[in-house]
Amino acid sequence: MIMKIIRADNKGEMGIHGAHILAERIKAKPDCVLGLATGSTPLGVYKCLRELNKVNEIDFSNVRTVNLDEYCGLGNEDPQSYHSFMMNNLFNHINIDKNNVHILSGKAIDVDAECARYEAAIRSLGGIDIQLLGVGHNGHIGFNEPSDEFAKDTHCVELTERTIAANALFFPSIDDVPRRALSMGIRTIMHARKVMLLCSGESKAETLEKALFGPITPRMPASILQVHPDFTVVADEAALSIVAKRHPHMLV
Ligand code: F6R
Repeated sequence: MIMKIIRADNKGEMGIHGAHILAERIKAKPDCVLGLATGSTPLGVYKCLRELNKVNEIDFSNVRTVNLDEYCGLGNEDPQSYHSFMMNNLFNHINIDKNNVHILSGKAIDVDAECARYEAAIRSLGGIDIQLLGVGHNGHIGFNEPSDEFAKDTHCVELTERTIAANALFFPSIDDVPRRALSMGIRTIMHARKVMLLCSGESKAETLEKALFGPITPRMPASILQVHPDFTVVADEAALSIVAKRHPHMLV
């Protein structure tokens, strides 16, 4: 087994651990390519990265970033877009060159061309050095929902009702949640040199155990990460409660 599991005491500690792993990468390779995620899970990581940048612990001036996904139909300036999320939670507060920030365009008219452009952009950056991921309750990573096969490259996705309901938290009402999104595919994610999955909370404990130790199946998209050659999980005690019972030897 090549995966490494880091147990954090709580969600705050999870963010700090995650941020330090990214910080080490940035120090070792100042122009590294970070793959970033949105949602509530990585907020603590971004808070810690902002603080480390503020005290000059890490320098983002040559760092390049690519984001996992974006809602279809939302412009960059839309407060609910992942573009805005990243600006508000990270990019507007650190010394990153915005020309080095890459996010899918939710307003693209030709969706297939936008997905192909994104894949080409990642290739021309030299690939992703470390990809940060959260996981949905149904095991999705990025917006790769459970399906009969693993979606490969960046593509357009119809969101499931469960994901729409979970994401409604960030919108005025559930009817405002877009029904489609653009997302890196599983192959795009698996090509990252290192993958770091963050997970917190009791409600994801069952999902996390299945993803890490269950069968590798597109019905549980995160399960594919079991075969990534450099895969680290940073999770809090609540999220690891079932793993701790069934696979105690796996925890460090
Ligand atoms: C976000 C993303 C999603 C989230 C997942 C968990 O860019 O790709 O896969 O990581 O839906 O969301 P939270 O963190 O809000 O529980």
